[in-house]
This record gives sequence, C-alpha cells and structure tokens, in this order.
Amino acid sequence: MNRSIPGCSRKSRRLRRDFMADFTVRLMPSNQSFTVKNGELILDAAIRQDIEVPYSCRNGTCRTCLFEVKEGYVQQEDADLCMISEQELEENRRLICMSLCRSDAILEKASPRRRRQV
Ligand code: FES
Repeated sequence: MNRSIPGCSRKSRRLRRDFMADFTVRLMPSNQSFTVKNGELILDAAIRQDIEVPYSCRNGTCRTCLFEVKEGYVQQEDADLCMISEQELEENRRLICMSLCRSDAILEKASPRRRRQV
C-alpha cells in the first residue's frame, strides 16, 4: 500500500512538522515549565496548563504579565498597541498575554511598573 501523500514529499512533511513544533517555556525562579503551541499566546498556554502566572487584562494594557526573556526568542505581538516601550523591547521584556514563542525560552517576572526614560 502506498502511504505517500500526493504533493507532499518527505522533506516538506519534515519542514511542516518543524514549523508546527511546540516550544517549552521555563519560568524563573519557580523553574516551572510548560508547552506553548506554535501560534499560541504564551499566557493562554500557561492558563491552559494551570501554570500560575500574574495577569489581568489579557490585552497588553495593564502590564501585570511583564516578563524578561532570559533565553530564547519571544515575539511581542501588536507592540504599538501594547503598553510596552521600545526600550523595554530592546531589553528583552515582553507582555506574555500578547507574545508568541519562536523558540524554547526562559522567562523571569519583571516589575510591571514603568521605568523612567533617560
Ligand atoms: S495581562 Fe495585562 S498586559 Fe498582559
């Protein structure tokens, strides 16, 4: 029996699987880990797996879910609409209610208060 999928080579299936890969997020200092599906907001993934993380608005405005990315690549979605500054983004801070994983990541809770721009 031929099990190949028409128009889908082994290489393209592997690329698709890699593209759809889940990521692992580890929180510091609790050392808790959870899985984030490709395209899933990090906060949604934490809630789905009963991981306790601070949050409130879930739309990028309250800053309760501000974390610092210690390792990995986390993409802030709609940064222009969220309450996060360019400086914070450059310092690898992200609002996880509006962020996607692009790799495995280690995150540490950051103070939600705004720091003065200098
Ligand atoms: S929960 Fe309010 S900014 Fe993320």
